[in-house]
Amino acid sequence: MALGGMIEDLPTLDEADVKDKTVIVRIDINSPMDPVSGKILDDTRIKASAVTIKELASKGAKLVLLAHQGRLGDDDFTTLEQHAELLSKATGIKIKYLKDLFYGEPVAQAIKELKPGEAILLENVRYLAEEPVARSMQDQAKTRLVQNLAPLAQIFVNDAFAAAQRPHASIIGFAAVLPSYAGRVMEREVKRMTRALNPEHPCVYMLGGAKVDDTIKILEHSLSKGLVDTVLTGGLLANIFLMVSGKDIGGPNVKLISDKSYLKLVDRAKVIYSNHAHLIKTPLDFVVDVQGKPKVIAVEELPMNVELLDVGPKTVAYYSKFLAEAKTIVVKGPMGVFERKGYERGTLELYRAAANSKAFKVFGGGHTVTIVNEAGVASKIDHVSTGGGAAVSFLSGEPMPGIEALLYSKRLRQRR
Ligand code: 3PG
Repeated sequence: MALGGMIEDLPTLDEADVKDKTVIVRIDINSPMDPVSGKILDDTRIKASAVTIKELASKGAKLVLLAHQGRLGDDDFTTLEQHAELLSKATGIKIKYLKDLFYGEPVAQAIKELKPGEAILLENVRYLAEEPVARSMQDQAKTRLVQNLAPLAQIFVNDAFAAAQRPHASIIGFAAVLPSYAGRVMEREVKRMTRALNPEHPCVYMLGGAKVDDTIKILEHSLSKGLVDTVLTGGLLANIFLMVSGKDIGGPNVKLISDKSYLKLVDRAKVIYSNHAHLIKTPLDFVVDVQGKPKVIAVEELPMNVELLDVGPKTVAYYSKFLAEAKTIVVKGPMGVFERKGYERGTLELYRAAANSKAFKVFGGGHTVTIVNEAGVASKIDHVSTGGGAAVSFLSGEPMPGIEALLYSKRLRQRR
């Protein structure tokens, strides 16, 4: 994708006439959830999406909202009931939630009954087995979701920047058959992130979080292109690179990686490490739980029969030096099990160190936004993206099918 041309070419809501039209809007309101209570912990993405929804509703559109929450098998893979309530609150529009429904007669009926300015939210689209399967845009247009919903609408709006790296049915399928536009979240993200596409060096990535499959892919791209000078690892990513460097990280930590089926990533991490070992930094110490209390251990003390829950003070000092000297910083994910009380300190201190650096700073991700807010550093960051994997994928020049689909739709209109 010609990233340089993206800002000018991206079709936005300024070009769309939505009055009295039925508009399918793909939003990303995938939110961090409390693993015990199941309550949404952070509504940043919901509030961001509200801007687009309010604008479309005030222009007289009839809105059919599509969104996902979590991934099959994860604790936060759940319905969108809470999201509908929070969206209603954030928009001031009563958003009707159609539980367990994606298409079929009741949905068609509800869509036909919509009046201008009204909105419905369908069920977690990832409950459909066909949704998270990577396919071409034309093949996604043949999925039951698109085949059933597209004929009931006149316009598609993709506001899900945070999922734009996914070639999924609800992200790219509608753009093949409906005039499609970027929502305001998507537009803002693309504009701001484009500024960071040619990073000033030294460029430091600080990467943690659970989605190591994405992070490894991002590293393969960005390291091979020379975009990044130092990678500060945390969480599972750090564990994998420690393993790759020959360290025995202890049974519970290996189990965490194998439970997520990430052991297969170790070979790819080995290739990355063999080519770029000098750029990849791993923690010098960790915080672990010993008899219910946080305890700092040095990396040399491994293996121990405990989970590595946070990075320790030596790591904070070590990583902070790179952050202070950086000209560009990209941050994604927590550096450990941030949500567990007593194990958030390393993450918070490193976020503060990154935020205090004079570098151009982009932070991204659902949990990342929560941490930024908790660390109280939002105002010091140039761009806090609603996307985690999406933000880093965009910056490392990986394909962004959700954006490419919008550009395709615009080209199609221009040819007609
Ligand atoms: C995210 O939280 O990064 C987006 O909602 C995409 O979710 P995914 O990584 O499960 O596709």
